[in-house]
Amino acid sequence: MKQFENDIEKAAQIIKEGGLVLFPTETVYGIGANGLDDEAVKKIFIAKGREQDNPLILHISDMDMLPQIARNISELEYKLMDAFWPGPFTIVLEKKPGIAMTATCGGSTVAVRMPSNKIAHDLIKASNLPIAAPSANISGKPSGTNLQDIIEELEDKVDYIIDGGETDIGVESTVVRVVDGKVDILRPGRITKEDIETITSQVEIDKNVMGQIDASEKVLSPGMKYRHYAPKTHCKLVYSKDNEKLVAEVLKVAKEYKKVLILSSTENASRYEGYKVIDIGSRNNLTEISHNIFSDLRKIDDFDVDIAIIEGIEPTGFGLAIMNRLIRACEHDYIVV
Ligand code: TXA
Ligand code: MG
Repeated sequence: MKQFENDIEKAAQIIKEGGLVLFPTETVYGIGANGLDDEAVKKIFIAKGREQDNPLILHISDMDMLPQIARNISELEYKLMDAFWPGPFTIVLEKKPGIAMTATCGGSTVAVRMPSNKIAHDLIKASNLPIAAPSANISGKPSGTNLQDIIEELEDKVDYIIDGGETDIGVESTVVRVVDGKVDILRPGRITKEDIETITSQVEIDKNVMGQIDASEKVLSPGMKYRHYAPKTHCKLVYSKDNEKLVAEVLKVAKEYKKVLILSSTENASRYEGYKVIDIGSRNNLTEISHNIFSDLRKIDDFDVDIAIIEGIEPTGFGLAIMNRLIRACEHDYIVV
């Protein structure tokens, strides 16, 4: 693979001049641009083929960058930022008038995150600008968690690439919005409902996190309504609280097809003898599953099968974040037994 210079000063200069930089964060890679430069942000939408009504997260390195982009921040919002920043946590705030319309898609709110990854932090600090950055992938595909997976689709679309190895968490940040004193989880991530409940008891998971959305429906977070993470291969998600029932159901579905791939937990992999299997990690180690899941989803189409059956995990705690991505990878073809 190509060698990268990883020169943060040079990357920051490119951001300042309106270019695009592919860089790592602790969740997934991002495609960054100066969040205050409309022309630069437009390039991100073009590079990704992203829908024009799906706004971007602005990434900051220090609290003193916040007043530039947001206003009327409540005590609860400050408490949440204080608890979970820097880290995999994004909060939707009231936008300060006059900031770039392109990143926010003309809305009255702005999503803000302070990443903990050192390269991300140093890049934002060196450019001294809020960096607008969506996940690094062509729209619809799984987010990039290492350069090998995304280099081909993005190499020609960015001006500079920083290699930070594999990202740590593997799924994107938790996105929340505080409405009437209640924290609404718009996208689940490593910061869980239970984590947020240590700050306030008023926490809700948006109904669209596990539900199916009509494309015409008005939702609090536009990203929820688009096709995402889905391989070309038909994928089906199967879950049961009872492991024996889960294995039995996976085998039952498998019998209905000729060419089958099973994405299995390490514990059950040996039960699917005779089938092609990708081991997604231990059911008892969600960190391992989340770390690999997008790379595993990207492998599915290489197998030339009629169906990929994916074992689900319990959709609570951090498991909810993983299941939210899997349900969407399966375009809501989901069986619970
Ligand atoms: O972990 C992450 O959040 C990664 C890294 C690069 O920071 N970024 C990321 O960005 O996942 P993206 O663009 O792929 O996802 C941002 C999500 C989308 O679902 C979008 O709809 C939502 O955040 N979002 C952005 N601005 C919003 C706003 N003002 N109101 C509601 N939702 C918003
Ligand atoms: Mg994304």
